[in-house]
Amino acid sequence: MTKSEFQPIEQVLDKKLEGKTVSIRGWVHRKRDQKELIFLVIRDSSDIVQAVVKKDSEAWKAAEKITLESSCEITGKIREDKRAPTGFELQVEDLEIIGLAERFPITKDISEEFLRDVRHLWVRSRKMSLIFQVRSAVFEAIHEFYKQKGYFEIQSPSFTACACEGGSTLFEVKYFDKKAYLTQSWQLYAEALIFSLEKIYCMAPSYRAEKSRTRRHLAEYWHHEMETAWMSFDDLLKFEEELIVFVAHYVAKKCAKQLKELGRDTAELEHLKAPFARMKYSDAIKKLSQKWGYDLTDEDERKLVAEVGKPVFLTHFPREIKAFYMKVDPKDKRTVLAVDLLIPGVGETTGGSARIEDPKELAESLKMFKLKHADYEWYMDLRKYGSVPHAGFGLGVERLVMWLTGTEHIMDTVPFPRTADRLTP
Ligand code: 4AD
Repeated sequence: MTKSEFQPIEQVLDKKLEGKTVSIRGWVHRKRDQKELIFLVIRDSSDIVQAVVKKDSEAWKAAEKITLESSCEITGKIREDKRAPTGFELQVEDLEIIGLAERFPITKDISEEFLRDVRHLWVRSRKMSLIFQVRSAVFEAIHEFYKQKGYFEIQSPSFTACACEGGSTLFEVKYFDKKAYLTQSWQLYAEALIFSLEKIYCMAPSYRAEKSRTRRHLAEYWHHEMETAWMSFDDLLKFEEELIVFVAHYVAKKCAKQLKELGRDTAELEHLKAPFARMKYSDAIKKLSQKWGYDLTDEDERKLVAEVGKPVFLTHFPREIKAFYMKVDPKDKRTVLAVDLLIPGVGETTGGSARIEDPKELAESLKMFKLKHADYEWYMDLRKYGSVPHAGFGLGVERLVMWLTGTEHIMDTVPFPRTADRLTP
């Protein structure tokens, strides 16, 4: 057999190949020695398969020598075997060690903290690999949704001169002889770009100097954002609903195998449908026995959404606890047309709003939020030249992946997490 005939493990787990000779390549996931037999579980990105080496075979010497996480190429006969982890066994005829691994530092019963210290090695674990496959499908689904809707994908700079989401979480960086910040959001630039492209979206990292150590905050996260000219607040909610339902169905279908192995019950995703629940902030604080102006905690959000039992749009927040660019509700001037989507088990997963369109209103808002007019000069211009009603939202991709995969901690939804405590590996 030549090397070009190597098959992904997933493909050799096939009844039609019963008794046929196949070649695979991958890494040793598990090894068990018996007197006359050595069992190796081999993994590649597609799946795992049990390989068995007999003492009287030519492969025995290599099988004795091979260690956990060594890379190898194997040729042998594939047979169905109900006792094997994926229902098939490969009877090894030829085993070639490609890279012999030193003693692998990750063994059983290891702490979460240690696993994060050796993240560069832990990324090859079955759990991480499955989560990353779902993560990849989420990106794919979002792009597919926008392709179908006729949206343009467009980017903005990572270095910015001013805040979008408030100064407290800004990362300051040296920018030649000036001070700059890492972007918190694509939004302000998107508001300029809708005058050119009307319907736009992006997938990009956003940076937040979050000191809070929660299970859903990162310092660098992947932000999906959308901005649309002529869009009303009601249409924004409907659009978000449609996107979340699309992604849930897409991932439940495409990643059924991965989600099953992760222990995630997919019925919630498969049966998800619009409309989601809607709750005004004023009702939420009543339920939580809090006063006007109270900023909901992660726990409050999870509690509210657990009570409802499906995703909830929380709307009409007090102006002072939200961002300067949000449009005041003409029916209740204490509130803004803002919406957070709360997802079961996670809480806030998207944040969006209708935007102020009027230049005077925007100038007043900057003043109210004590922001320097000079820093937002170009943004003010957008309201001077053919302003339009518009709306948009941002979605934390890792939070969505947490929900879809049933992952407890956001750190496990991203390959190399960045938090206040972690910059390596
Ligand atoms: O609610 P946020 O701050 O909204 C914005 O940035 C708007 N400019 C978006 C827009 O309207 N275009 O952030 C949006 C979402 C949140 O709902 C949350 O899911 C995620 O981004 N997010 C984080 N995810 C992980 N770690 C953090 N530190 C996050 N901060 C926000």
